[in-house]
Amino acid sequence: MTDGSPAGHEPVLAREALALLHPAEGESVLDATLGLGGHGLLFLREIGSSGRLVGLDADAENLSVARERLQDGASRCTFIHANFREIERLDLPAFDVIFADLGVSSPHFDDPKRGFTFRADAPLDLRFDQSKGTSAASWFASATEEEICNVLREYGELREAKRLASALYAEQRRGGGLGSTGAVRTVVEKVSGYRANELLPRVFQALRIAVNDEMGALRAFLDTAPALLRGSGRIGIISYHSLEDRMVKNAFRDLATPPRDPRTGADLHAPEYELLTRKPVVPAPEEIERNPRSRSARFRVLRRVSPRH
Ligand SMILES: C[S@@+](CC[C@H](N)C(=O)[O-])C[C@H]1O[C@@H](n2cnc3c(N)ncnc32)[C@H](O)[C@@H]1O
Repeated sequence: MTDGSPAGHEPVLAREALALLHPAEGESVLDATLGLGGHGLLFLREIGSSGRLVGLDADAENLSVARERLQDGASRCTFIHANFREIERLDLPAFDVIFADLGVSSPHFDDPKRGFTFRADAPLDLRFDQSKGTSAASWFASATEEEICNVLREYGELREAKRLASALYAEQRRGGGLGSTGAVRTVVEKVSGYRANELLPRVFQALRIAVNDEMGALRAFLDTAPALLRGSGRIGIISYHSLEDRMVKNAFRDLATPPRDPRTGADLHAPEYELLTRKPVVPAPEEIERNPRSRSARFRVLRRVSPRH
C-alpha cells in the first residue's frame, strides 16, 4: 500500500484523524464519505488483517476509484453506494470508529461533465449522486427568486445574494434558462463585474449544498450515526462550511451533556458520550500550504463512554 496520498490528493487532517479516532488492530470502521479512499487506506492499515472497513459514498464514480485503490485489502472492505443520510436503513453493524469528511472531492472540480466548476462550460448538474435527485438546472427551473436568494445568502454567505438572485431568476424566466455552468457564470459576471471570480466559487458552493441537501443529510447523519458506535467508539467529522461546523458542534455538545430532569433540573445520569475536541482541530499552516483546499477544514470528535440507558 502507498501512503494514501497519490499525486494531487492528500487526505485532509490525516495525522489528526488517526491520532484522535485511533483506529486500532482488529477494529471496525465506517468511512461514510469514502471519496477516493485516502483516509480509508490509512484506516485500513491501522486496523490490520483482522479489522473491517465499510466505505460509503453517494458518488458511484468515486466509489469505484476507491475500490480500485483499496483492492489489496478488499477482503476486509465493504463498499456501499449510498447517501450517509440513509445509514439507519442500511442495517449496518456497530462500529468502533465512524468518520465523515464532508463535501466535495477533487474529481468533482476536475471533471467539467459533473457541472461543479464554473471554469468550463458544461451542463449545470452538481449532484454527488447522478442516479437520483434534481440537478441544479432543474432546481433553477422551479425555484422562486426568494429561494434562490436564501440559498445564496445562507450557503454561499454572499452579501450580494439579492442582486444575484434577481438576475439569475430573470435569466431563468427569459426562456434561455440556466442549463449550463456558463449561463450562471455569465449572469454573475454581468452583476458583479471584476469581482465575479471572487463570487463564483461561493455561488457554486451554495448551489451544490442546496442541490444535494447537504444540511439535511448531515442532520440525519448526526441524528443516527452516534447510536451506531459500540464500546468506547469514536465518531469524527471534518466540515468545510461554518453552518456544517455549527451543526456538528451543537450535536456533539448535546450528546456530551447529561440529560436533565425537566422538573428539578438535576442531572438524570452521566452522558453517554464525551467530547475529545473542545475546539475544532484545524490544519497546520504547512498542510494549508501543501493543500489549499484544506484551509477551511474543521474537525470534531466525540467518544462513547458508557453503556446505553
Ligand atoms: C471530501 S470527499 C472525501 C475524501 C476522502 N476522505 C478521501 O480521503 O479520499 C467527500 C466525499 O463525500 C461524498 N459525499 C458527500 N456527501 C455525501 C453524503 N451525504 N453521503 C455519502 N457520500 C457523500 C462525496 O461524493 C465525496 O466523494
